[in-house]
Amino acid sequence: MCGIVGYVGLQEVAPFLLQGLKKLEYRGYDSAGICELNGKLHVHKTQGRIADLECLLNQKVISGSVGIGHTRWATHGAPSDDNAHPHYDCTGNIAVVHNGIIENYQDLKTLLIAEGHVFRSETDTEVISHLIEKYYQGNLLEAIGLAIKDLRGSYAIAVLAQDSPDELVVVRQDSPLVIGLGMGENYLASDIPAILDYTRNVYILEDGEMARMTRDTVEVFNKELVPIDKAVFQVEWDPIQAEKEGFADFMLKEIHEQPKAVRDTLAGRIDQDGNLTISHDIPVSLVKGITKVQFIACGTAYHASLYGKCLLEDLLELPVETELASEYRYKRVKADANTLLIVISQSGETADTLGALRLAKAKGARVLAITNVVGSTLAREADAVMFTHAGPEIAVASTKAYTTQLACLYLIAAYLQEQLLGRVDPSSLIALTKIPDQIASVLAMHEERLRDYAQKLVKATDAFFLGRGLDYASAMEGQLKLKEISYIHGEALAGGELKHGTLALVMPDVPVIALVTQSLLKEKMVSNLKEVKARGGDILLLALADSGDFSDVGDEILLLPSTLDFLAPLLTVIPMQVLAYYAAKARNCDVDKPRNLAKSVTVE
Ligand code: AGP
Repeated sequence: MCGIVGYVGLQEVAPFLLQGLKKLEYRGYDSAGICELNGKLHVHKTQGRIADLECLLNQKVISGSVGIGHTRWATHGAPSDDNAHPHYDCTGNIAVVHNGIIENYQDLKTLLIAEGHVFRSETDTEVISHLIEKYYQGNLLEAIGLAIKDLRGSYAIAVLAQDSPDELVVVRQDSPLVIGLGMGENYLASDIPAILDYTRNVYILEDGEMARMTRDTVEVFNKELVPIDKAVFQVEWDPIQAEKEGFADFMLKEIHEQPKAVRDTLAGRIDQDGNLTISHDIPVSLVKGITKVQFIACGTAYHASLYGKCLLEDLLELPVETELASEYRYKRVKADANTLLIVISQSGETADTLGALRLAKAKGARVLAITNVVGSTLAREADAVMFTHAGPEIAVASTKAYTTQLACLYLIAAYLQEQLLGRVDPSSLIALTKIPDQIASVLAMHEERLRDYAQKLVKATDAFFLGRGLDYASAMEGQLKLKEISYIHGEALAGGELKHGTLALVMPDVPVIALVTQSLLKEKMVSNLKEVKARGGDILLLALADSGDFSDVGDEILLLPSTLDFLAPLLTVIPMQVLAYYAAKARNCDVDKPRNLAKSVTVE
């Protein structure tokens, strides 16, 4: 996610802005910039690190006691000096920084250009600067109030106007903003860590709230500009806790970020009638005439590719293969110009994945990437990219990247069905838009029970994850989560494979996590679970609500919100992530940095 800071006071603004941006570095970014106002607006910005910005500033005379700063995590437009924030309007009277995604920015940009506005960047953010310019009649708060009525999407915005020299105006919708209250100065940040050195008294803005900040006042309004009497929040966290927004670990924070991550990934890709709008991600020319689909990936991304394979095999009449990248790259590559190669990688830098990609490209394959990092090597080498908008994933164990990869795969499957078979089911896409709230309800309903259940795993040496079809693909991800952070041996198994050997390991109290969400396979799974019960296995069963009575096989049954079988994997993975997390905590493991592992495996 991007980071925002702002200051209105009596001190020199640049040191505060730079210090604040450094406190937000953990959020991940690819460029940085500030703007100070001292009679005139002066924007200084650069691709790269905050240190690069400091080098830039060292060459200039910076003065002023009002300003805004930004660290950019690219979503629309690759990392570059021009795409860095702040962004001016045409006249240079307005400067804006933004965190979030403007879903309808393409339409707005077209309209604004037709009205004569000149754009300098590829970002969605810049439409905000020009919209404010369009409505600005001297009152910045009113102009912003009008501008945001045209916006669709998520945004935290901070705005300066050259001819409103003593104020900073902000608005929050689905992206966080906090205002620190000082004496003769006030502070703004996306996150509390950036202002903790100055004050512990903050206003936490809610969605739809705006604020006008001066050095002596902070007025809060709703979107209709009606004043709001805001309560002061006293921050009790220490700086480290504040980076995790009060969560004990980044992994737990990122598990809880999944509703927003999936919502942001879907933003702008499905309209309110359930129609796909992803042709700007995937040009039709990339998919027309393909005769085969291949997936390559590693680790969690490979498990996402298993989901993609199941989906496409069911929906398309094409051969679909998936292969671990480390295996693919050392086999005779069977790809050609009619092969669509879908490459999945959170980091976009995994060595084996890039190696396999280059081999397939040399054979003429058409490459579609799914990645979380704009400007990554994978994003630059693919023919087309569908970005997950999960925000930076700090914990080594992948959580929100996986669920957003599944969301992208579901969109891609629908798009291929539409382009290759001429049919798509809007109701299935409407069901996808319900997933973010359903993930939130799974966490609200089951987190405590899973924390208690995890105690049973503390002494376990093995845990088995059982499923059939899509549930088997999900089981693969569940076992990896448990293994990589709690160091308990997890093993995924197709339900029908039990009696071909592994049943020999099922003894009293051996934990078995069973996924039973695929309607056509439910009876088969139940009979497999009866074999486990007969040997005393302890079954944690995950099923969709109203999908049957499992009381004769499940020792602990977690019912998940009803959804389509195809979408169940976006929900079943949540309890498995939470279970792995609490098992690892119970075993005093380093959840965010598990032993021997790296976040991105950039070497073979
Ligand atoms: C999963 O929790 C691990 N972090 C690891 O398996 C990871 O998924 C794998 O290294 C692939 O990384 P990538 O998605 O960045 O390519």
